[in-house]
Amino acid sequence: MKHLLKMTDLTKQEVLKILNVADQMKFNLTHGLEHETLKGRNLAMIFNKSSTRTRVSFEVGIAQLGGHGLFLNSNDIQLGRGETIEDTAKVLSRYVDGIMIRTFKQSDVEELAKYAGVPVINALTDDEHPCQVLADLMTIREYRSSLQGLTVAWVGDGNNVCNSLIAGALLCDMKIKAATPKGYEPARYIRDYAGQRLSLTNDPREAVAGADVVFTDVWASMGQETEAAARLKAFEGFQLNAELMKLAKPDVMVQHCLPAHRGEEITADVFDAHAEQIYDEAENRLHVQKAIMTLLMGEEPV
Ligand code: CP
Ligand code: NVA
Repeated sequence: MKHLLKMTDLTKQEVLKILNVADQMKFNLTHGLEHETLKGRNLAMIFNKSSTRTRVSFEVGIAQLGGHGLFLNSNDIQLGRGETIEDTAKVLSRYVDGIMIRTFKQSDVEELAKYAGVPVINALTDDEHPCQVLADLMTIREYRSSLQGLTVAWVGDGNNVCNSLIAGALLCDMKIKAATPKGYEPARYIRDYAGQRLSLTNDPREAVAGADVVFTDVWASMGQETEAAARLKAFEGFQLNAELMKLAKPDVMVQHCLPAHRGEEITADVFDAHAEQIYDEAENRLHVQKAIMTLLMGEEPV
């Protein structure tokens, strides 16, 4: 693994390696056993969209491992004034050991990786959110011990997190069902990747029936603010509420990458009933990203 650009680039072995190192990172942190696997390493963190979890977990994560993260708002660097991705990639690579980027176009991240001499980590694009899904897989494995054979349901927008989840679930031998309104299906490239292994429906009840884990996310992602009203209408009936959740397994888990809009994609009562799992999911961003950074730009953990 040279970069982390999208889930479909990963092999099953690479996913399991990241999850195992992430578990080790969590254990080490909670037992005072941390190794400075990123001592002296610097990570440029380019943000072209808002963030709470991603920014804080990357910045804290690298600091805990002896390195340093530089928060770069893309409007404050010359990239925001038209400097090319190629020049940005080549110059940053002279200073830092890795580049993390959150932006709109997946192709911009791929281009950055093409010209960078250091590993590039995708911290969310319109198409993908691999760091999130790796944290989700880690969380499910903590609760369920093994991922293999579990049934995962996605309800709502076939967005970036959904695309990454489909690949992540399949890589871990899970079954995946997605319910979206017509016109809001997961991206074509991910449907092609999954083929018959992805069960797609326009009926949330069909997706949630018998599920071990149910996922949702906001109906309007960052960059889709002008579509918010139309989406609110289109996603009617796609809310995770108590009635829908009754169709899942009795011990069903709920995962939400956050931020959540209670009363839209999830009711407050369903959120509250699964809040611990959702906050664990957010916490695991820290551990999983420490694993990703260590594997890409650090020393193998002991
Ligand atoms: N889930 C997630 O990526 O959160 P932020 O947008 O706060 O980083
Ligand atoms: N789908 C959401 C995820 C936020 C973490 C977005 O892209 O805004």
